[in-house]
Order: sequence, then structure tokens, then C-alpha cells
Amino acid sequence: MIKIIVAMDKNNLIGSAQGRMGMPWHNAEDLQHFKETTLNQTILMGRKTFELIGKPLPKRKTIIVSKAHDLENLNAEVCHDLETLLKDYEKDQDIYICGGASVYQQTLDLANELIVSYIPGDYTGDAYFPVIKEDRFKCIEEVEKETFILKKYRRIK
Ligand SMILES: NC(=O)c1ccc[n+]([C@@H]2O[C@H](COP(=O)([O-])OP(=O)(O)OC[C@H]3O[C@@H](n4cnc5c(N)ncnc54)[C@H](OP(=O)(O)O)[C@@H]3O)[C@@H](O)[C@H]2O)c1
Repeated sequence: MIKIIVAMDKNNLIGSAQGRMGMPWHNAEDLQHFKETTLNQTILMGRKTFELIGKPLPKRKTIIVSKAHDLENLNAEVCHDLETLLKDYEKDQDIYICGGASVYQQTLDLANELIVSYIPGDYTGDAYFPVIKEDRFKCIEEVEKETFILKKYRRIK
């Protein structure tokens, strides 16, 4: 299954060039949720998000998408062909798409599941998640966490 995991505000904001590690907020509970969800899983992210994090996250298989062929010594697998790679994950195996904006944009139509943390508050930034269309994704779970709302969506067409 192709699963997107993302944190956004009420306006679909996901990133800020001014923020720590590119994030508009710091939410420890959401970081813990991200860790618990992706631990021992395969995760995929764009080259810019990877550079913002600065290193492969421990105990996860990390795949970085980049058009460049010279990313060496990253301690992570590099993928140059996103669509072909994702074909391997359409059925039995799981992959968690972890951003950023350009990767979410390209994968939303392919994703089976969305795991969305809605962060309350007002923030500024420059990177956005695409609109989640109600005729394409159905909310199947909503959990009120202490500091954010967690929603899971399944693709319906
Ligand atoms: N709130 C959240 O949950 C969350 C999660 C992750 C990221 N973010 C935010 O998202 C922002 C970064 O997003 P972004 O769009 O600027 O960058 P990005 O998606 O992280 O990375 C873009 C790079 O990925 C590579 N890439 C993308 N599509 C590709 C494809 N089809 N084939 C090969 N390579 C491909 C390219 O790398 P090359 O240039 O090397 O070719 C491209 O420059 C930051 O603000 C970050 O904080 C937020």
C-alpha cells in the first residue's frame, strides 16, 4: 500500500523556509506519532526534505527521490524513477511517502491511504499539500490527540 503521511494546518500549509527543519511549527506529539508509524517501515522522501532532516532516520529503510546521479554516501537508497518504484508497493508491501510538497503533489493520485495530522494554530510558510478531494478520499478514522487531530483517509476511486 502506498501511504502518505503528512502534518498540515487548516490551510494545507506543510512547510516554511524559516522554520526548524523546514517545519512551520514544532509539535513533539506529532513527531512521536510519525516515529511510531514509520518505525521499521520503508519511507520515501524528496531530496530537499532529506537535506532538511540532515540524515537517514534510524530503524527505517529510507529511499530518497532525486534526478541527480551523484548522491553518494547518504546511507540511503536513491530513486530516479518515482512512478516505477511505486508500482512495487501497490499491493502487498507498504511504503510511507514523507514529503515534501513536490513529492506529495506527484503521489496523491497514487496513494491508497492518507495519514494526516491537522495542527491547530496560525502559521506562515511557503509549502502546501494539495487539496484532498472528498470524492476521491473518504475519512475512515478521526482521533483527537492532545495537541492535534489525526485523520486517516482511504482512496475510494
Ligand atoms: N509537514 C510535513 O508533514 C512535511 C513533510 C515533509 C516535508 N515538508 C516540507 O516540504 C518542503 C519541501 O518540499 P519541496 O517540494 O521543496 O521538496 P521535496 O519534495 O522534499 O524535494 C524535491 C526534490 O525531490 C526530487 N524529486 C521530486 N520528484 C522527483 C521525481 N519524480 N523524480 C526524481 N526526483 C524527484 C528532486 O531532487 P533533485 O533536485 O535532487 O533532482 C526535487 O528537487 C519543506 O518546507 C519541508 O519542511 C513538510
